[in-house]
Amino acid sequence: MSEKNDLSLKELLDKLTIKEKVGQLLQIAPFLFIKDLKVEVAGHVRNLKLDEEKIFCAGSVLGIGSPKEMIAVQKKYLAKSRHKIPLLFMADVIHGYKSIFPVPIALASSFNPKMAEITARISAVEASSCGINVTFSPMVDLSRDPRWGRVMEGFGEDPYLISKMGKAMVKGYMGDGLDKSNSLASCVKHFAGYGAAIAGRDYNTVDLSRLALYSEYLPPYKAAIDAGARLIMTAFNTIDGVPSTVNSFLLRTILRDKWHCNAVTISDFDSLRQIITHGVAKDTEEVAYKGITNGLDIEMASSTYANHLEDLINRSLVDIKLLDEAVLRILDLKKDLGLFDNPYKGVDEIEDNNILTKDNLNKTLETAYESMVLLENDGVLPLNKNVKIALIGPYATSRSIIGPWSWHGSRDTHKCLEEVLRDNLVFCKDEEDVSKYTESDLEKIKQADVVILAIGEPDWLSGEAHSRTDITIPNNQDRLLTISKELGIPSVVLLFNGRPLIIDSIKSSNALLECWFLGSESSTAIKDVLFGKINPSGKLPMTFPRSVGQIPIYYNHLNTGRPYLGENDHNQYVSKYLDSPNTPLYSFGYGLSYCKFEYSNLQLTKNTMNPKESITASVEVKNNSDYAGYEVVQLYIKDHFARISRPVKELKNFKKIHFLANEKKIIDFIISIKDLTYITETDNEVYDSGSFSVMIGGSSDHTLIKDLELVKELS
Ligand code: NOJ
Repeated sequence: MSEKNDLSLKELLDKLTIKEKVGQLLQIAPFLFIKDLKVEVAGHVRNLKLDEEKIFCAGSVLGIGSPKEMIAVQKKYLAKSRHKIPLLFMADVIHGYKSIFPVPIALASSFNPKMAEITARISAVEASSCGINVTFSPMVDLSRDPRWGRVMEGFGEDPYLISKMGKAMVKGYMGDGLDKSNSLASCVKHFAGYGAAIAGRDYNTVDLSRLALYSEYLPPYKAAIDAGARLIMTAFNTIDGVPSTVNSFLLRTILRDKWHCNAVTISDFDSLRQIITHGVAKDTEEVAYKGITNGLDIEMASSTYANHLEDLINRSLVDIKLLDEAVLRILDLKKDLGLFDNPYKGVDEIEDNNILTKDNLNKTLETAYESMVLLENDGVLPLNKNVKIALIGPYATSRSIIGPWSWHGSRDTHKCLEEVLRDNLVFCKDEEDVSKYTESDLEKIKQADVVILAIGEPDWLSGEAHSRTDITIPNNQDRLLTISKELGIPSVVLLFNGRPLIIDSIKSSNALLECWFLGSESSTAIKDVLFGKINPSGKLPMTFPRSVGQIPIYYNHLNTGRPYLGENDHNQYVSKYLDSPNTPLYSFGYGLSYCKFEYSNLQLTKNTMNPKESITASVEVKNNSDYAGYEVVQLYIKDHFARISRPVKELKNFKKIHFLANEKKIIDFIISIKDLTYITETDNEVYDSGSFSVMIGGSSDHTLIKDLELVKELS
């Protein structure tokens, strides 16, 4: 911020009454501004205890239906506003506005941050033209529990991958600068540790060690902030017993003091008032006190600030300095977004110029291509162009495949599987219950060369407040596999889901394609992969357990003092289950391709390095197939001896590389001290000299390995 602008915002601040300042901290729904308040006073407004004066002092709006509505709200607001400080419009643009991209967990499977950036850019162009200034995205909550419905909105279990994807999204939303008409400010969420809800039950308590918090959970938020996220949303959960929304350790010590971050802090929906239910405030006045003193700027969807802060300040119970700092941060954001110059920045009332364009839809298709993960394939895929298909299962005709969290995404703009596969279909039935397939159905299915099962979780089973204890495929849809087995016809399973599921029962299909929810062009993307126009290249961003009993299961765990060494380990007193292997069904980083990639000849330019040096690790990757395709080459490192126990491996880098048919390439990674450094339980970045392993491969459970020694610098 230039000194001149700084001064003018300060001058503006000085002109505001306390009530007007407090208003900037209030975020409410748009209809409060345009409905007849006299009528509304009986409903929502009464619950919030807001009068017209307070409403027309509010600083921001949550959600907006259309550009017309945005214009109407802003106009009416500014007409009544003494200082003409524009409203800020915020909304959940999570994986696209109207052109819908794969859900974030799918996008993470692409291991392609550049592509994530492009999706965010297009989302920003579409959403800003409809009057949105801020998106509540990315969600960078690390999660190791697929029972938690919100894993669909995140980038999986690995801090490095999440950070890369989150950072790319923030950059994409901002584009060439916040003041540009087609940019969005990013609000990273949910600070902090929301993905660690105990037993995967949404909103549940979180109990994290400082080590886990500092070294695994916080880095992705920091990466998003460093990339330019201008807001940070607090989480519903507690950290050390203190709700994140009023947690001064998070909001002041970490965010302001350690990270020197000036982002606007915002509560989650009603999460400030809910500290009463958490049992850390007795009434709304104490809520307001705790919010402002502990570092919360904007209160979303509750009104404790609007109703108590002025009084608390007048009674000298709250220092007005705290209010001024919060308001300045918000005004600064409005200024940087260019809203003082043009409160209707970028809004296109016609709505169709930037929305759902051919180019945007093409990009949704390209991202969908890269987001599928091929889990099994015995050679049945790709299909030949004249193949006769029997398509069965609930997703055969469903249009609910764009994914949850797509408010403005239309289910009518895209085709279902049955429509795109029609030319090859000899049979189609969307029944999920195997007993509903009649003898005559089976006769028709017999005509097919392949049975495609389109099955999975309904889209509404994942997302916020959609936790499950049973994460098998609902309603025994997996039994449909018996049809192809009994008829002796090869099967291909297309799996739709917002979280890793327990899928051992369909592992024996001839091919299994993890489709997640792929957005506007889901069906076309799937068809193109089935027929080999596109070679799948996605890798799992989250471990697939064999059973719910293994959860939490993740690749970067500690070794323990009694690790189980595998089938030949007959020691009874080791860390293992009696009734299940320790290993997951599919590991982090796993995913097949129509290519057959072979890794060999891992080499380090030196086997020892000192902290000032860097070395290069290289590996030969050969595509032993007649297909061209992409491979995600992954670098993992293990620190064998340190002052604290370190994970068995950690992802440190990856490269997504294109290979021609039968092409061989040498892939290099530079390893420097930052790759050997870790964060301690006191939030210090340290390294220890000694042994490391460098591992490179196409999956976390399948790597080549070489020793590396970190030696002290010679003085
Ligand atoms: C609640 C969700 O937790 C959060 O992610 C979202 O941004 C807000 N609601 C606003 O819709």
